[in-house]
Amino acid sequence: MWIRNCWYVAGFSEDVERKILARTFLNQAVILWRTSGGKVVAMEDRCPHRLVPLSIGQLVDDQVQCGYHGLRFGADGACSHVPGQDTLPRACQVKLFPVAERHALVWIWLGAADLADEKLIPDVHWMSSPGWTASKGYHHIEADYRLVNDNLLDLSHETYVHKETIGNGAVADSPVVATIDEGRVVRAHREMPNIIPPPFFAMMLNAPGRINRWQIAIHMPPGINMTEAGFHSVGTDRAKALMIRPLHLLTPETEHSTHYFWGTCRNFNHDDSVLTERIREGTAHTFDQDKHLLEIQDRALRAQGMPNIPQSAVKVDVGPVQGRRLLAALIEREQADPHAVAPTGTLAVDGKVTMPPAA
Ligand code: FES
Ligand SMILES: [Fe+2]
Repeated sequence: MWIRNCWYVAGFSEDVERKILARTFLNQAVILWRTSGGKVVAMEDRCPHRLVPLSIGQLVDDQVQCGYHGLRFGADGACSHVPGQDTLPRACQVKLFPVAERHALVWIWLGAADLADEKLIPDVHWMSSPGWTASKGYHHIEADYRLVNDNLLDLSHETYVHKETIGNGAVADSPVVATIDEGRVVRAHREMPNIIPPPFFAMMLNAPGRINRWQIAIHMPPGINMTEAGFHSVGTDRAKALMIRPLHLLTPETEHSTHYFWGTCRNFNHDDSVLTERIREGTAHTFDQDKHLLEIQDRALRAQGMPNIPQSAVKVDVGPVQGRRLLAALIEREQADPHAVAPTGTLAVDGKVTMPPAA
């Protein structure tokens, strides 16, 4: 059900400070902390002495001190102090996980550590690069991450779930075209010419009248998603359209819960901090609605023994169905070969997805 040999988002860079942060990824309890030199460390949340979670302990200088008997462990996982004795037990080691910081995010590798190559970190540079301003946030969703991917690949739900922010009838009524690039990335594209702008778009455009709008849901399994949304007043140049590229970075916590790190990145009005906050609020409100719906759906599916979905496919299912197929193929590949590594690349827009060679 999970790919292990890939980088997952563990948090925003600012989440990891000079104190212990406990999070679970893929059912693995982890602690994250930052050394005095600024390096992020990810360790198993388990003391090798009597196996209590290290997250009940504290950071002492650059060591984690267990909250039970006070043994300490350095950033290399080795035991560095045992109260009441001078010798250090060599075998008493905490397991480390590879971590890296890129695009203002902390990434963690939960698979075979020797395969963790930073070149495989997905390119989501819009979160932090010049020319883009991100309104960021986090949702904890009590649902299978695959349901969140499905939701992001079928945006027809905007019409029904998000009518006060990003949706109106034009979304569900406009046909969607899905393509697969490089056997790795699914794109579901919808054009909405000459429509009344939904409230969130009217707020961002700050101009009266109808708009041309497009959206491209881009998905790279297991949980990297971006929605490109372009919009401009009817009669103006598409090349000068305003664009937002919300990133939806999903990391499974358990089979039925998901860390949802997001950032709505825009290419306009970079210095407008009021707009940054309005977009953050609007996005958070919109994703609250997804969370509500997805948690209801997950509970309903669990009560029915997790049957396959969709039971009846309609046209808008084309994106989610392709996304699930890609994911299933990657999981199958890794199960057949524990050293298989999912290729990665950039979620480029403007019709192109560029892929480096598979590792
Ligand atoms: S259980 Fe951690 S020091 Fe004993
Ligand atoms: Fe949604």
